[in-house]
Amino acid sequence: MRIGVLRETAEAERRVAATPETVKKLTQLGATVAVEAGAGAGANIADAAFADAGASVGDRAATVAGSDLILAIQTPDAGDLPGIKPGAMLAGIVAPFTNRPRTDGYAAAGITAMAMELLPRITRAQSMDVLSSQSNLSGYKAVIDAAEAYGRAFPMMMTAAGTISAARVFVMGVGVAGLQAIATARRLGALVSATDVRAATKEQIESLGAKAIFVDTVKGIEGEGSGGYATEMSDEYKAAQAALVSSHIAKQDIVITTALIPGRPAPRLISDAQIASMRAGSVIVDLAVESGGNVEGSKPGEIVHAHGVTIIGHRNVPSRMAADASALFARNFYNFIAAFWDKEAGLKLPEDDEMVKGVTVTRGGAVVHERLVG
Ligand code: NAI
Repeated sequence: MRIGVLRETAEAERRVAATPETVKKLTQLGATVAVEAGAGAGANIADAAFADAGASVGDRAATVAGSDLILAIQTPDAGDLPGIKPGAMLAGIVAPFTNRPRTDGYAAAGITAMAMELLPRITRAQSMDVLSSQSNLSGYKAVIDAAEAYGRAFPMMMTAAGTISAARVFVMGVGVAGLQAIATARRLGALVSATDVRAATKEQIESLGAKAIFVDTVKGIEGEGSGGYATEMSDEYKAAQAALVSSHIAKQDIVITTALIPGRPAPRLISDAQIASMRAGSVIVDLAVESGGNVEGSKPGEIVHAHGVTIIGHRNVPSRMAADASALFARNFYNFIAAFWDKEAGLKLPEDDEMVKGVTVTRGGAVVHERLVG
C-alpha cells in the first residue's frame, strides 16, 4: 500500500496532509509513503524532515503514480493528478456540493474520492473529525485576530495610573469554534457572553465561565439538535433573536460569529444598524464569512470598517495556523487509516460501514454519495 501526500495548490493554503510524525506512524503500519516536494513548506516542515521520517520525496507525477491512496487538505481536480491509478483513493476536503464538476471528474477518472468533511459525527469518528480539529483552531485564532485589531487590552488591569476595564466579548454560535473562542477570550481575561439556538449549549457556555444570552420568548432547538447541527429558525425566532442581539451588542467590544447551518447559507445575525450601535474601535470577526457571512457588510478575505467598527473576514482561518492545523489534520487522517487497516491487505474500507459510506463521494466510475444522487 503506497500513500501519496500532495503539495497544496489552492490559493493561500499553507497546510499539509501529513507530518513527519504521521509518516512514521503510517510506515509502522506497513505503508510506503511518498511526499510531493515542498508539501510542508507552508507549515515549516522541510522535505528533509519527511525523508528522515521514512518518506520518499519527489515531484507531483512521482507522488501520484503508483499511489493507492492520495492525501490532500483540499483535493485538486482529477486533471491535476497525472498518472493516477484507476481505482486509487483520494481523501481530503472535497466540497462536492459546491464543486460538482470536480466530483464528476473524479468519477470519470475512476477515482474513489473521500470527502473527510462529511464524516458522520459519531463518537467513533471523533479522532478523525477534520471539521472539529480545524474549527477549534479557528475559534482560537478569531479571538487572537480580534485582540490584535482591538486598540485596548482584554483583561482588567489595576495600575498606579488607574484601572483599565476588561473587554466584553460576545460569541455567537457555540459549536466547536465558538467553545474555543469562549475559552480563549476567558483566558485573556475578557468578560464573555455567548448565544446559540441549540439549548444544549447553554450549560456548555456556563461551564466555561461565560454568560449565556438566550431567546426565551420563542422556543429554540431542544437539546443538541439533529446530529449536533442547527436548522433554519422560524421568522418569529429570528425577530426575537434580533431584538435580543440589539439590546446586548451595543455594550460589547468584540463579537465573534461562528454560526452555520449545514447545506444552507450562514444565518444573518448582525445588521448594519446593530454595528452602528457599537462603540467606535469595536471589532467583529465573522468566521462564517465564506459561507455567506453572519455579519452584514463582512467580506471574504477582507478587513472592512463600518461606523468605526473593524469587521474581520479572513478566509481559511485554520491555514493561518498551518503548523498546528496540519498536525491535527494529519492525525485525523492517520486515525481514519489506522481504523481500517488490515495487516495483509492495507487499507480496507467496508462499503457498508457508516463512516465509509458517509465520506465516499465517488467509486467505480460513478458518483455514489446519497446526497449527490437521485
Ligand atoms: P457548526 O459549525 O455547524 O455551527 C456553529 C454553531 O452555530 C452551532 O452551535 C449552531 O447551533 C450555531 N448556530 C446556527 N445557527 C445559529 C443562529 N441562527 N444563531 C445562533 N447560533 C446558530 O457547528 P459545529 O461546530 O460543527 O458543531 C455542532 C455540534 O456537533 C456541536 O454540538 C458538537 O458538540 C457536535 N460535534 C460532535 C462530534 C462527534 O460526536 N463526533 C464532532 C464535532 C462536533
